[in-house]
Amino acid sequence: MIHSRIAGTGSYLPKKILTNAALESMVDTTDEWIFSRTGIRERHIVADDEFTSDLALQASLNAIKSSGITAHDIDLIIVATTTPDKIFPSVAVMLQNKLGIAGCPAFDIQAVCSGFVYALATADNFIKAGAAQCALVVGAEAFSRIVDWTDRGNCILWGDGAGAVVLQASDQPGIISTHLHADGNYEKMLHVPRQADAKVKDTVVMEGNAVFKVAVNTLDAIVDETLAANGMQKSDIDWLVPHQANIRILQATAKKLDMNMDKVIVTVDKHGNTSAASIPLALDIAVQDRRIKRGDIVLMEAFGGGFTWGSALIRY
Ligand code: UT7
Repeated sequence: MIHSRIAGTGSYLPKKILTNAALESMVDTTDEWIFSRTGIRERHIVADDEFTSDLALQASLNAIKSSGITAHDIDLIIVATTTPDKIFPSVAVMLQNKLGIAGCPAFDIQAVCSGFVYALATADNFIKAGAAQCALVVGAEAFSRIVDWTDRGNCILWGDGAGAVVLQASDQPGIISTHLHADGNYEKMLHVPRQADAKVKDTVVMEGNAVFKVAVNTLDAIVDETLAANGMQKSDIDWLVPHQANIRILQATAKKLDMNMDKVIVTVDKHGNTSAASIPLALDIAVQDRRIKRGDIVLMEAFGGGFTWGSALIRY
């Protein structure tokens, strides 16, 4: 049977940093409130002339380099994003063009903060089916473009960035299992409604506290589902690479897994919530600093707008 495994990782963050102190001069908030409620200290923000495909390109080049492949080896591109440069073409096709590798299939996946897990699961299934051998899977967001910077209960959370992995066919599993879910009953708790007035920007509307509670319970359930599907115990997991929404959500999932926080890859303090980019960004950082090593069992999980949620269990 054909499996897929991560050959290499890469990430990229825009240069501009927005600190909590800077937010204090934009909305009625404090560094103390933001840090104690979310764990966030700062986040990166795109420049005016920088777009999701630019972030995706830099993360992809880093992933290609760390995988020891060339861009021409790639035969599938999937980009998870909520903030494409344009309504169309997709970021994946723009990225393909920037990489100079026209021809292979390239498409975006929209599952908001769960997007990377959805994209990884899709690429894994392409490879298992024999339809691809070397997939570039990216999570990239310029989320700051859809934030209402006057809404203090919301704008303090988000950041921009990109992460990427190269997924290659292998005779050993790499990706052990993936689990995806969605429930549109929760549409209005976290969404970007279309404004009737075209001059008004479409921005994120979120019932933060209600989302928080559903997120914690749902992530508990996906942890149970993933372990049960593989006949594994909590102690079999070496690392948790969670979607970085709020440190308190990460702590709740770690508690569910009886896991110390030093086994949880935390980037929310420096990146904020980068939506679909947060998991591949966190994975790359932990691979680069050699916490996550070849052979380690890594659980990735995410929850986001829709609601959508999912997990991927991998042997790195
Ligand atoms: O990425 C996937 C999905 N998203 C999430 O998972 C996000 C989940 N939600 C959250 O992370 C949290 O709900 C937030 C960080 C968004 C909000 O934290 P909270 O502890 O749920 O606060 P809250 O909305 O219940 O508000 C508590 C109080 C309110 O004041 P009163 O009514 O108690 O007087 C808010 O007005 O805090 C106030 N508040 C703020 N105060 C200072 C809300 N935002 C701020 C702020 N600074 N930035």
